[in-house]
Amino acid sequence: MSGEEYGGAGAADDGTDRLVGPEAESDESAVEAALRPRELSEFIGQPKVREQLDLVLKAARQRNGTADHVLLSGAPGLGKTTLSMIIAAEMGAPIRITSGPAIQHAGDLAAILSSLQEGEILFLDEIHRMSRPAEEMLYMAMEDFRVDVIVGKGPGATAIPLELPPFTLVGATTRAGLLPPPLRDRFGFTAHMEFYEPAELEQVVHRSARLLEVRTDAEGAAEIAGRSRGTPRIANRLLRRVRDYAQVKADGVIDREIASRALGVYEVDERGLDRLDRAVLGALVKLFGGGPVGLSTLAVAVGEERETVEEVAEPFLVREGLLARTPRGRIATPAAWDHLGTARPAPAPGRPDPAAGPGQPGLFGE
Ligand SMILES: Nc1ncnc2c1ncn2[C@@H]1O[C@H](COP(=O)(O)OP(=O)(O)OP(=O)(O)O)[C@@H](O)[C@H]1O
Ligand SMILES: [Mg+2]
Repeated sequence: MSGEEYGGAGAADDGTDRLVGPEAESDESAVEAALRPRELSEFIGQPKVREQLDLVLKAARQRNGTADHVLLSGAPGLGKTTLSMIIAAEMGAPIRITSGPAIQHAGDLAAILSSLQEGEILFLDEIHRMSRPAEEMLYMAMEDFRVDVIVGKGPGATAIPLELPPFTLVGATTRAGLLPPPLRDRFGFTAHMEFYEPAELEQVVHRSARLLEVRTDAEGAAEIAGRSRGTPRIANRLLRRVRDYAQVKADGVIDREIASRALGVYEVDERGLDRLDRAVLGALVKLFGGGPVGLSTLAVAVGEERETVEEVAEPFLVREGLLARTPRGRIATPAAWDHLGTARPAPAPGRPDPAAGPGQPGLFGE
């Protein structure tokens, strides 16, 4: 897996209702939409992306032209959709929203492209999941603002060239590594979204609390931010759950104590691990002595699908340095034992200690 892939791309369809997974209920997505920053200046964090994008958009506006095509890459919930809407707002342009999986045939794309207005923003979410023929049509549209519409079938088929008005394609992907290079190269600007710093997430929590009219103090916001896995979407979701708790069990005001108790109820621990994460880690440590153990075995042990473990739980556990993927299977790192508060057993005689790392046998043993 390349460094540009984040996994979790399939998480939106996994059907589970994990607190830190993507939103399932539509009223919650409505809240999410309401919390989206509308202007670049309101967008918290990502200072590099903001500065670069600001230049791209300002320059295009000064030229009275359309902005270059933009690719937004980053893990789920970091603000790609939000940024695409901000781009449209900053350019004063209408936006058309579609996604890779929605474009099955080149004809679907031709229909969308041919109905674009000059300067319109075309937002193509999950662009890595577009079909090959559509992708090839997109190359030409991006570069020459032209598509060949094929009319008829077989030997009688003819290609009718169709001029397109200049438009800006904004592509979003959680898996930039899966994009074919010819497609990647046709974007004039690629924004790599990073996970957010705790201080930035605190700002996100404060901003959302203001919009939701929830009272929270600095420590309460920090507590939520610290458990949000570097992800604004999760920060917003945890805030709403803590709000519920504060409303039902207290006077509605969120402080550290309330935030901590509420997140305890929802089984989100101090580091942002949820029930599934801890189940995976717990199985790895307690049932398999820290591994190495195969993904399928691990999945069976926690009663989940392979894909759920691989795409939902693992990326975060790997990022946190709690779990490592090795050619022989998954292993727990020493940090995993510490986090679960379990003592590490001494490695079995004659068996290499997977978690100790090279040259430090028994360092963490009893
Ligand atoms: N920089 C930010 N400042 C404030 N809020 C943000 C920021 N980025 C994202 N959010 C909030 O996080 C939520 C999720 O953002 P968004 O939907 O844009 O993520 P995404 O990258 O498109 O995720 P996905 O890959 O799942 O589509 C939004 O509701 C938005 O309010
Ligand atoms: Mg999105």
